[in-house]
Amino acid sequence: MAGGSWSAVVPGVDEASGEVARGVAGRLGASLCSVHFKRFPDGEEYVRVEGCSLRGSDAVVVQTMAKPQSSSLVTAMILADAVRGLGAERVALVAPYMAYARQDRVFLEGEPVSVRAALKALYAAGYDVLVTVEIHKEESLRFFPGRSYNVYPYIELAKAGGVECPGDVIVAPDLGALRRAEKLASSLGCRYGHLVKERDRVTGEVRLKGARVDASGARVFIIDDIVSTGGTIALASRALLDAGARSVSVLVAHYLGLPGAGEKLRSSGVSRVYAANTLPRSRDDIVEYVDVSGLIAEVLREA
Ligand code: R5P
Repeated sequence: MAGGSWSAVVPGVDEASGEVARGVAGRLGASLCSVHFKRFPDGEEYVRVEGCSLRGSDAVVVQTMAKPQSSSLVTAMILADAVRGLGAERVALVAPYMAYARQDRVFLEGEPVSVRAALKALYAAGYDVLVTVEIHKEESLRFFPGRSYNVYPYIELAKAGGVECPGDVIVAPDLGALRRAEKLASSLGCRYGHLVKERDRVTGEVRLKGARVDASGARVFIIDDIVSTGGTIALASRALLDAGARSVSVLVAHYLGLPGAGEKLRSSGVSRVYAANTLPRSRDDIVEYVDVSGLIAEVLREA
């Protein structure tokens, strides 16, 4: 069935989901439901969807996979069940940040493909359509049996960051992110390159092993999907400044920003981080947020 008929938007239970839900509902001209949320004394979650009519509708649930990620995943699942129970016929999940996406293959024997388990569970819970922002590896969406869309936020982030081409250089912190850098740089007309990062699969420790980019004298924008501990970007920033970069800023889809991340970035010389509003806002004042609800609404109109 062709899209464009989303008439109701159900906000998830954290502030980032609420913000994106309001933005999407406004742009689609859809009504915004409300959700009553509580936890039972044993910690289990309870939701009740109110304030809108869903019978026979095409409805959108916006629930990002904020920390604690496993709990957000369950929230998204029970919201689907509630929305189906109220008679919605077609249900889309907007998960601005899709958790478990980095475990997208078996690195060590005995591990799961966690993103496959999560996407199958969301489909089984009742979602026909999935819209997410930068899912680490777009190929992972094949594990969702319904229609799925991956929103690419970097052009908006680059605009917010004032990227100027051909002078500025876009740098991927590792080979895995090179496609991202190449795509953004080609659409803007910038130079690009990547660093060589090695991660110890058992301890998680990362090391830089080299650079395939000339950043000397240039303003550098590091592009990555996630800042979590800030370790990857901090290493990259130091290496680029040591190699003569004039300044280092960051374009990142998801700022998870674990405690200490902002300070780590600042002390490694990062000037500013431009992040999409896919997760609850961090107090780290190095981060500037960019609203991506317009991009999400555009995708939903086609879905
Ligand atoms: C790795 O594959 C990801 O793209 C990110 O570079 C990484 O997960 C960032 O994590 P952290 O901020 O903890 O270094």
